[in-house]
Amino acid sequence: MFSKIAIAATALAGAAYATTGETVTATGLAVTAVNANDGSGAGTDAYTMYSGDGSAGSGWPDQSTWVSYSDMFENNKPFMQAHCGNLGWGDNDSDAEIQAIQDAIDTVATATFVDHRFILAVIMQESGGCVRAPTSVYSVSNPGLMQDHSGASTCNPGSSGSAQSISPCPDDQISGMISDGTAGTDAGDGLANCLNQATGTGSQAFYEAARIYNSGSVDPSGDLGAGVATHCYASDIANRLTGWVNAAHGCTLDG
Ligand SMILES: *[C@@H]1O[C@H](CO)[C@@H](O)[C@H](O)[C@H]1NC(C)=O
Repeated sequence: MFSKIAIAATALAGAAYATTGETVTATGLAVTAVNANDGSGAGTDAYTMYSGDGSAGSGWPDQSTWVSYSDMFENNKPFMQAHCGNLGWGDNDSDAEIQAIQDAIDTVATATFVDHRFILAVIMQESGGCVRAPTSVYSVSNPGLMQDHSGASTCNPGSSGSAQSISPCPDDQISGMISDGTAGTDAGDGLANCLNQATGTGSQAFYEAARIYNSGSVDPSGDLGAGVATHCYASDIANRLTGWVNAAHGCTLDG
């Protein structure tokens, strides 16, 4: 285990995050020590639609109800193992690739002070954990595991399907994709700066940061389901942080 982490850290040394230096500076949001048993256990695989501003007063879940990282990772693993194949994105993730995801999340979390559960939630949201997720191209290109802002790392530079998928996906590409999404790129912010831009405290800040990661800003109304965006995005992240994996997606905000 230790040697695995050391290898990931070495691979990461040459990756993009070193150049951004993005870290969580917001008071109370920085996680300076990675802990796999940081939450309430496995939570519940269910979906509750949340609307409004992400606050406890609007019914959004408090951070004290979030799952533990170790349970969250184990419970999402079967989904990761099948998602590339299910979406026609090439070979399914191998055990080694999934281990590389786990190692890289903790290495990047340690470097950026972003809660590792938040990183995993965004990975599952953006790519289902498929290391060969294709690049989405809207106004900018969004590659890889976290569909980040024009990052260089990817194991599928193509914009659809499996035509250009790379298998196996090298460890440095996996750690690079997680770095590009969490520590940002030269072109755009990662989760760390999205947290720094949030105006709420505690769990509300994470839900606001999810909105900012997805669409660049929080709607002036404060409603995390409003604006030009995936309207369910912040609600989805809140559910992932409380144990949602396979239950029906009970969110109607996107029609
Ligand atoms: C991916 O895994 C799923 C679940 O085990 C399986 O049904 C599917 O055939 C696999 N796809 C590929 C491309 O290996």
